[in-house]
Amino acid sequence: MACEIKAWLVLSLVLMVACMQHSVLGNSQAVPCLFVFGDSLADSGNNNNLPTLSKANFLPYGIDFPTGPTGRYTNGLNPIDKLAQILGFEKFIPPFANLSGSDILKGVNYASGSAGIRQETGTNLGTNVNMGLQLQHHRTIVSQISTKLGGFHKAVNYLTQCLYYVYIGTNDYEQNYFLPDLFNTSRTYTPEQYAKVLTHQLSHYLKALHHVGARKTVVVSLDRLGCIPKVFVNGSCIEKQNAAAFLFNDQLKSLVDRFNKKTLKGSKFIFINSTAIIHDKSNGFKFTNAPCCTTNEGGNVFLMELHAKIGPSMCFGMEFILVKLQT
Ligand SMILES: *[C@@H]1O[C@H](CO)[C@@H](O)[C@H](O)[C@H]1NC(C)=O
Ligand SMILES: *[C@@H]1O[C@H](CO)[C@@H](O)[C@H](O)[C@H]1NC(C)=O
Ligand SMILES: *[C@@H]1O[C@H](CO)[C@@H](O)[C@H](O)[C@H]1NC(C)=O
Ligand SMILES: *[C@@H]1O[C@H](CO)[C@@H](O)[C@H](O)[C@H]1NC(C)=O
Repeated sequence: MACEIKAWLVLSLVLMVACMQHSVLGNSQAVPCLFVFGDSLADSGNNNNLPTLSKANFLPYGIDFPTGPTGRYTNGLNPIDKLAQILGFEKFIPPFANLSGSDILKGVNYASGSAGIRQETGTNLGTNVNMGLQLQHHRTIVSQISTKLGGFHKAVNYLTQCLYYVYIGTNDYEQNYFLPDLFNTSRTYTPEQYAKVLTHQLSHYLKALHHVGARKTVVVSLDRLGCIPKVFVNGSCIEKQNAAAFLFNDQLKSLVDRFNKKTLKGSKFIFINSTAIIHDKSNGFKFTNAPCCTTNEGGNVFLMELHAKIGPSMCFGMEFILVKLQT
């Protein structure tokens, strides 16, 4: 047992060092720009001025972030900050809601806490920027880049070099399908149908993104929904929710395969199996169901619980993206 813990520690340290080395090296950027679509796992301040309970611009969020709370749903860096560091960016990717003083040619983060693929998802908590709106925001940025670079064609040409990160769908379950009192999706669709409906809608968004230049896109599968701290009851995961996530992930994987092999030839989609990365014992990572702390804003204990400290497993996932980009 002690030995096992030690091995785990050593591996974590090795990976953390690897992770830090990249952030320190930082001189050769793997890609010139990074655009981010997603939810609270990636949001870095887009919800700060929206009327919603899903925000994180107050303590204890940001306790370990250099400038304190920013709207990131973690104590310190979020996964996207980590990814930006690993890819060699000198600055974090700015949120669309506050681009003051930022170079949009380096990328923009459109992610919004509580958002999903579906329009109504998360609206139980207030307003959010759903995937469709995130894409509209991206179109605004594309036209600004067109102005900067002297034409749409030049802009799209530049945009083909960027990396696009898409991690969305968790809330279509947690803030929609599994809230039957508030949403009718679980009465309208079986889990199989719902997974198809969601990935079908997402496929339109990914194609639209392709139209405006995306050629390197990371698509992240859902983690085991039934095991996130909010859902976890009495020390066990809710298997029904895990099963729903697996159905979605299988559809997502086939979509990515289809895009890579046929429909969107010439683009590279990188599928990240978050379950494999976070939970695979052979990676030496221990999954913790214990949040570092909880918040109780507006009677909702749901935020920090979901996004406890980012551990080395996150680093590992991001390293994986870098490796995939280079092969
Ligand atoms: C907007 O971003 C700038 C630069 O990162 C930061 O200094 C400022 O505090 C932000 N403003 C708001 C309202 O978050
Ligand atoms: C489900 O709810 C939506 C509003 O969120 C409504 O537009 C739709 O008609 C409802 N569908 C069914 C089958 O009740
Ligand atoms: C959790 O455990 C408590 C006490 O054993 C029990 O009363 C409760 O029903 C359990 N909840 C669920 C969702 O299993
Ligand atoms: C992801 O990884 C898990 C664990 O290794 C595996 O059970 C699952 O089938 C994988 N999912 C996909 C879509 O490849």
